[in-house]
Amino acid sequence: MTDSYSTNPDINTLMSQMNLAEKVGQLFVLSAHDVVIAKKWIEVKHIGSFINLLGEQTQELQAVASQSVHKIPLLMCIDAVHGHAFWEGATVFPSQLGLSSTWNADLMRQVGEVTAKEMVATGVHWNFSPVLDMARDLRWGRIGETFGEDPLLIQTFAAAMLEGYQGQGLHHPESVLACAKHFLGYSETVGGRDSSEGEHTERKLRGLYLPSFQHLIEQGCLSIMVGYHAIDGTPCTINKWLLTDLMRDELGYKGVFVTDWDNVERLHTEQMVCASIKEAVRLALEAGVDLIMGTEDYTDIVCDLVQTGQLSSDIINAACARVLDIKWQLGLFDERRTTDIADLAPIIRSEQHRELALEAAYQSCVLLKNEERTLPIGDKIRRIAVIGANANDPEAQLGDWVLGTFPFHVGAQPDENITTILDGIQQRAGQSLDVKYLKGCEVDATNVSDPEEVTELAKWADMVILVLGDTLAQNGEMCDRADLDLSAGQLELCQLISDTQTPLVTVLINGKPLSIPEVAQQSDALLEAWNPGAKGGQAVAQILFGDRPPVGRLSISFPYHVGQLPVYYNQLPGWHGTPPKYIDLPNEPLFPFGYGLTYTTFEYTNLRVTEVSDGLKVQVDVANSGEQSGTEVVQVYINDVYTSVTTPVKQLVGYQRVLLAVGECKQVEFHIDKCALQLFTAQGQWEFEAGEFEVMVGGSSSDADLHKQRIYLD
Ligand code: NOJ
Repeated sequence: MTDSYSTNPDINTLMSQMNLAEKVGQLFVLSAHDVVIAKKWIEVKHIGSFINLLGEQTQELQAVASQSVHKIPLLMCIDAVHGHAFWEGATVFPSQLGLSSTWNADLMRQVGEVTAKEMVATGVHWNFSPVLDMARDLRWGRIGETFGEDPLLIQTFAAAMLEGYQGQGLHHPESVLACAKHFLGYSETVGGRDSSEGEHTERKLRGLYLPSFQHLIEQGCLSIMVGYHAIDGTPCTINKWLLTDLMRDELGYKGVFVTDWDNVERLHTEQMVCASIKEAVRLALEAGVDLIMGTEDYTDIVCDLVQTGQLSSDIINAACARVLDIKWQLGLFDERRTTDIADLAPIIRSEQHRELALEAAYQSCVLLKNEERTLPIGDKIRRIAVIGANANDPEAQLGDWVLGTFPFHVGAQPDENITTILDGIQQRAGQSLDVKYLKGCEVDATNVSDPEEVTELAKWADMVILVLGDTLAQNGEMCDRADLDLSAGQLELCQLISDTQTPLVTVLINGKPLSIPEVAQQSDALLEAWNPGAKGGQAVAQILFGDRPPVGRLSISFPYHVGQLPVYYNQLPGWHGTPPKYIDLPNEPLFPFGYGLTYTTFEYTNLRVTEVSDGLKVQVDVANSGEQSGTEVVQVYINDVYTSVTTPVKQLVGYQRVLLAVGECKQVEFHIDKCALQLFTAQGQWEFEAGEFEVMVGGSSSDADLHKQRIYLD
């Protein structure tokens, strides 16, 4: 009889034949930019997983693994966080923040599906996505990787992406394993500084950050990445309470925990909580880590720890069984180990996938201002000046986690796959309009080198489309910013153009919200396009020219100034106004969560809130009061008026995207489950507290846009 480590008897049989070193090798995800080294690692150290290898390389290494004693397949992983973008020619979607501005979960599912198909075709089966981090401090460099600032949106969109990645079953030929990251509370570290200390209470962790992870594991997520940071003095990597007591024992999580990059080594070299790597490895495995990711091979250290009785072999067996189970479920032990990568064109260069990238980019654009109906571009506009470096910069447009942005993935996405904003405008304008382009200044310039040239071009034009924003170097890991302003050069550019009185449309290509009060004021129209991916230019042109009306809504608030942070909408009430006011800044954000304009207007009437057995029924009539059809995102917020602990001033509990023809009025109905009316008590429980609730319905989180009704619930 073999020992029972897994519910799968085949895994138990396999494990009974494996020696300690072979089991330990399964607990490592190594980065091998060099296939020769990787082969050695497989042959000598039995390493079971690799990151950042693609295509032919995966096949070569799988072949080596299949010659090994137990023929255990390798698990290949990558960060395909907005498309399989490290693969040349693959589909690049908008950033996760861009995607979240669509408020369209089904679109997210489709993005996940396409990404999975493209990954599998290149021999990779594990995606370090979705990101469940909640945007809190906008100085943090990784805001663009999030789904924004709201728990409901994060949970909904992450679940949709999970479904796209693995909804057909892990064994399906077009599925990949998803990985929810970064566990837990990683996005809210001190000062927005990546990987520093997270000042979280247990109540906040459980009440704010845990639910989206919990939801995802209930939906079948089988891998979670442990964040770099520490909470209350304990790095998550060695937090046994977090990984084992809470997740495994209390919530019954069955999947694997993988560390983030080099977490274990950093316990010793940076967080300074372990005097040796040996101690770091031991504490991480004892805490509940299953897979150690990084560049170094510590397999000998782990074997030594077990052989000298310093680490229980049960820990190794349990982790190894979990890893093998996943490989089994993914079908890697049979036909899915290798892929025919000879003919990738139909998958990687699929027209359908490109169409989806265009659709996602279109839906992710948010119209923030449109004075005097500057947009869409009308018949009177014959001469257009496109100005700004980001109008023609594939790197800024595609964003992070793309070929060329990472040391091991050298190259760039081919230009012919990318429609820049300038390309999109030129293509759409065709022969009938005169379009001229001027860079004006670099994105990070301190001044405009030739102001006269800018003024002259702006005066020549009937309309200026000014494309401003940030650069890749101002976003991502290790790129936290103390300041969220546009560069002085870009501000000068905007001022010069505004001074000419030529109608000014500003398009923003940026990783995250920036403080742009001057630009917002000087522009007649303002369109936020984020990092819109390969088809961004075409999508922006469709909106500017009115081929399609904008439909995106902010999933994150914009500040006036960096000193106004935090500006997320769901703040806790305090004294002296909510959120407490600064004497030198407005109380409201520059643009609030949920906000976004389109080419028509909507009217809300007749809000009805009634109690039903399991929650609330909320009904409202929404009419298209403008002259074009359009999509409204109807949002429902709740405030639990008197509570035993402070609760958010408003919390999104439901939304619907509603398409309305001119003059059409629809009754929109929501069912708000009683669970959504619960709060997390001081005693650490989700509970419903009887009393008055304020229900708010409208087109954004701003009080000015919300219709309110109170109801007493017991
Ligand atoms: C570090 C990042 O924090 C994480 O998100 C990513 O998945 C890993 N590196 C692997 O590239």
